[in-house]
Parts: sequence; structure tokens; C-alpha cells
Amino acid sequence: MKIEASAPAKINLTLHITGQRADGYHLLESLVVFADVPDRLFLDTGSALSLSVDGPFAEGVPSDARNLVWQAAELAGWTGHIHLTKNLPHGAGIGGGSADAAAVLRALNMPEHAGALGADVPVCLSGRPQLMAGIGEDLCPAPDIPALSLVLVNPGGHLPTPDVFRALTQKENAPLGALPGKMSFTGFVDWLAQGRNDLQPPACALAPEIGDVLDALSDARLARMSGSGATCFGIYESARDAQTAAARLLQNRPDWWVCATRSVGSS
Ligand code: C5P
Repeated sequence: MKIEASAPAKINLTLHITGQRADGYHLLESLVVFADVPDRLFLDTGSALSLSVDGPFAEGVPSDARNLVWQAAELAGWTGHIHLTKNLPHGAGIGGGSADAAAVLRALNMPEHAGALGADVPVCLSGRPQLMAGIGEDLCPAPDIPALSLVLVNPGGHLPTPDVFRALTQKENAPLGALPGKMSFTGFVDWLAQGRNDLQPPACALAPEIGDVLDALSDARLARMSGSGATCFGIYESARDAQTAAARLLQNRPDWWVCATRSVGSS
């Protein structure tokens, strides 16, 4: 049996860290959307598990049991060949291996294994806007938020998530607060602007180029880092504005990964 799956980029529009559990994991509140730019997976059932990786971000991605895609297939009790095309930067705050693993579990109809593979895997199962709480396992659909025109920018390099959490000094921060009902684009962006990514200051301290990325996105209605970084997003009023901004950014910084896209799954 051959199955195709896609693993869209996960964007944390907000990420509030509200505490830390005794086991070291952080309590968080995050509004997550998915962008229409995915890694792709091709599954072909067979007698043994194997994995191959290609694509613009294949370098450094393991093709053995270290890869969460492999671990997802094993947990699901599935064997065969998986081909993964890495279109998205990894170790970059936009899902990476978690999104790929979620895509495998979704394709194999085994969502119950998501939590075992990491705090970000459950949210990646649905590919739709969600409020995320706990350490990532408490999920609530957020269908009322408007579809967004986005520019994603990654300056290169890997920023390991544990390093960023370790560098966070203030662990108890104000919560996100309730998401208002259906909002206009302007109302939504104004609401988002009151939020934060609490991992942005420690990530910027570890990787100062994140500050350069945020400066370069200053013409966006809102610019912020996603997840533990280093990818940042800019929200633009229209797809055309996002494309114009992306073209300018690519011209100025051809060494950065820049992508104009849109969020998916809003009602
Ligand atoms: O769960 P996952 O393996 O994706 O998390 C990677 C690392 O991020 C964890 O080892 C932990 O250091 C940190 N983390 C955290 N609190 C969370 C999620 C992740 O401290 N809620």
C-alpha cells in the first residue's frame, strides 16, 4: 500500500510559558496555526522499516531510528519504506520532526501514539488552528481565527529547543487569556499583539540574528518568533503584501530561508 502525507509548518502565534513541572517540562499556552508549506512523506508498505531523506533541508536529518518518523512507524507497528522530502528548516521552531512524525501517525491512523513522541506532536496531528496548553497535550480547536497571509523567515543554523528553555530565567509568566470569538483581521492582530513568545528573549540571546530577522519583518502588521526559534513570522494584510515583502527580503538576504505562505484550516 502506498500513502502520501504532508507535514505543514507549525507556527506558534503566541507562546506563553506559565510554569514548570517537577519533571522539568514547562507549562505553556500557545495559539498554533499551520502554514501551507509542508514537508512531504511517501509511505510504501513492506517487510522491513527503512527511511530515505531528500529535499533542500535534508542535510543532517538522520535516516534511522533517531528520526521521529522512524519512531512513529515503530510505535504504530508499521513496516515499509518511508521517503521524506524536507522542504522546511528543522531545529527551527516550526514543527520539524514533530510535524513529520504526526503526519506518519495520521497516515497510519494511529494518532494515540502522538504524546509519546514529544510535546509538539499532538498539536501537529490536526493541521488546524488550536489553543495548546499543559505541556502541549491539552488541545482545543480555534476555528474562528481569520486565515493569515504570512512570511516565514529563518536565518539558518539550528537552535536546540532544550537550550532555549534552559536559557529562560522567568518561568512563571502571565497566561494568554481567553481567545475572543470571531474577529476581523485587524481585531485579531490587535489581540495577538497583546500576547508574547516568552522564548523569544532567551532565543535572541543565544542567536542574535533572530533580532535581525525581526527587524527585517518590521513592515508586517505583526512580527514574532515561532516556537523556540529561530524561524520568525510576519503577518501581512494580504497575500500580495506578503509576496512583495518576501521578494524584498530574499533580495536583501539571499542566505536566509524566506517563504510567503498562508495559514490553513480557518473557517
Ligand atoms: O517534547 P520534545 O522532545 O519535543 O521537547 C524537546 C525539549 O523541549 C524537552 O526536552 C524540554 O527540554 C523542552 N520542553 C519543555 N517544555 C515543553 C516542551 C518542551 O521544557 N512543554
